[in-house]
Amino acid sequence: MNIKKAIFPVAGLGTRFLPATKAQPKEMLPVVDKPLIQYAVEEAYAAGVREMIFVTGRHKRPIEDHFDMTFELEIALEQAGKAELLHIVRSVKPDDMECIYVRQAQALGLGHAVLCAQRLVGNEPFAVLLADDLMVGEPPVLAQMVEQYREWRVSILAVQEVPAEHTQRYGIVAGTPVNDRLLYVDRIVEKPKPADSPSRLGVAGRYILTPGVFHEISTQQRGVGGEIQLTDGIAGLLRREKVFAYRYAGRRYDCGSKEGFLQANVELALAHPLLGPGFRDYLKSLPL
Ligand code: UTP
Repeated sequence: MNIKKAIFPVAGLGTRFLPATKAQPKEMLPVVDKPLIQYAVEEAYAAGVREMIFVTGRHKRPIEDHFDMTFELEIALEQAGKAELLHIVRSVKPDDMECIYVRQAQALGLGHAVLCAQRLVGNEPFAVLLADDLMVGEPPVLAQMVEQYREWRVSILAVQEVPAEHTQRYGIVAGTPVNDRLLYVDRIVEKPKPADSPSRLGVAGRYILTPGVFHEISTQQRGVGGEIQLTDGIAGLLRREKVFAYRYAGRRYDCGSKEGFLQANVELALAHPLLGPGFRDYLKSLPL
């Protein structure tokens, strides 16, 4: 079975990125020339997902507009003979991709945001992508995970080794190795202190989940920070079903933080086929 639907929770407040996120969603911040949300949607599309479900909140209209048709702009580009730009604008939403929006009235936590999409997802496995984690991988990280899902038919969490002093920023997993990249998860804890952390394997913002997780989220107590946590839902799920953690091949930029966002811009600009060479020369010329 393929993964056909993906949830993009974009209703967070983005407080770490204030003031940029005071009146605009952090998912619309551009890395080089594309908003963060577009990177995540392209990654899902490349993994075969065609139904994109955005869980939105206040100030999220720009996201809806971005994936909508921009009639006046397209006419203007067409009349000006700017075929390349027209192609760029049109390819934001391929014809066979569907965008659906559901509102999370209050930012009660990531688990709650995922639960808001339950009716749209129904009873099938689905992906969750956090657009502020910008992932660069070849093949793209979600495609790697879908391949694992096809083989094992269980929930798959993207993980990476994190520095011991950063465990409080992540959901942390522990379990039994299945192979070099896979771990059979028997514990998951949200934001543990380094001394209490069961491992240094942190969950990155990519998940493939079975629909059983909805029941777990809806019956759990509020967790860390008084939020309804996705991690706690997954902790419930792994008491009933197998859950695997997958060490993805690729690089992650935490674009919810200013440092990660700056690193992504520098590295993706350097890798950009047109901008890269000139930007490299510019960086070299700086008196660092
Ligand atoms: P974060 O933990 O990064 O929270 O959420 P945030 O509010 O966006 O940002 P900070 O920490 O205040 O700077 C992780 C993801 O979950 C979504 C966010 O939009 C982000 O993609 N989220 C979080 C929701 O959609 N709803 C919530 O209630 C909480």
